[in-house]
Parts: sequence; structure tokens; C-alpha cells
Amino acid sequence: MRIGVLTVSDRSSRGETEDRSGPLIAELIKDRLGSDVRGSIVPDEQDQIERLLRAWSDDLELDLVLTTGGTGFSPRDVTPEATSAVVHRLAPGFTEAMRAASLQITPHAMLSRSVAGIRGKTLIINLPGSPKAVQENLEVILPAIPHAVELLQQGEGPVKYQHAGQNEHLH
Ligand code: MTE
Repeated sequence: MRIGVLTVSDRSSRGETEDRSGPLIAELIKDRLGSDVRGSIVPDEQDQIERLLRAWSDDLELDLVLTTGGTGFSPRDVTPEATSAVVHRLAPGFTEAMRAASLQITPHAMLSRSVAGIRGKTLIINLPGSPKAVQENLEVILPAIPHAVELLQQGEGPVKYQHAGQNEHLH
């Protein structure tokens, strides 16, 4: 499985704090799915997040992209907006499951605005930013990932969706 992990954090992108969530996701993915991951860090800038999500989906044709961070209520949290702008189809089951499970742990789970969706054959899922939240949320969705990716790989796929993402059409 070709997987990318995108850390969205102003401070980590400037080297002011160490990114602990990205490496944690990589470790969990290696352990559970046996895959190595490609990692990158961008600041909380919508255009930079969108550009990387498009490149990883369209050019690298990754199967799965997990983002971490920028899903909360701070003014600079724009990861869900960037994700919504690039996906062609929504996949709300992942975020519904994560919020439902996380609400058993903390009411602050309501503050995650995470989005999941599909661009071409790439599944993109937002995770929260803290290592604790990453671990708790990733555990919930991991069991469904292999079948999701398998389904996305089937056939040639439509060139264009009737109800494509808000901002663009595929090809
Ligand atoms: N989900 C779980 N399972 N555990 C947590 O500790 N933290 C919440 C929420 N989801 C949390 C969680 C908090 S405090 C916030 S603000 C949101 O995720 C968004 O986090 P982010 O802004 O780092 O993306």
C-alpha cells in the first residue's frame, strides 16, 4: 500500500517543535499494515495543504493519505477546508466512526472538524494533531483501510464525477 502522512503544523514546519504525530502514524502503519510511508510537513496554509494533497493523489497516485493536525477551532485550523476542496467524493464513515469512538474518551472530540474523502483513487483522511488523539483515532479506522483501498483500486474508475468536489472536476 502506498501511503503518505502529512503533518499540518505551523510550528513543526518552522522547526520550532518536533513533529511527534507524523512518526507515530508511520510506526503504527508499519506495525499494522506492513507499509512504509512517505512523510511531509506543511504550515497551516490552505493552498500549501491543497497543493500537496493534489500532488500525492494525482502525481504519486498514493492509495492513502493521512493528515494530522489543523482540524480544530483555532483560526489557523484549515485542514478540513483544504481536504474538502480537493476531494471528489466524501467518505464520512471514517470521521463518523472516529468522533463516535473519541466521544467515549473526551467531549473535546466534538471539536475535531476532520473530513475524509476520495480524490481519484486516493483516500484522504484527516486525523487530529496530538499524538494521543492520533493513536486513539487511528486505531478506530485501521481495520477498514485495506478493504477501502482495495475497492478504490478496482476497474478504470470514472473520469468525471457528476457531483465532484466543491471546487473542481477530475480531468
Ligand atoms: N480525539 C481523541 N480520541 N482524543 C483526543 O484527545 N482531542 C480533541 C479532538 N479529538 C482528542 C480527539 C481536541 S482537544 C481537538 S481541539 C480536536 O481533536 C482537533 O485537534 P487538532 O486541532 O489538533 O486537529
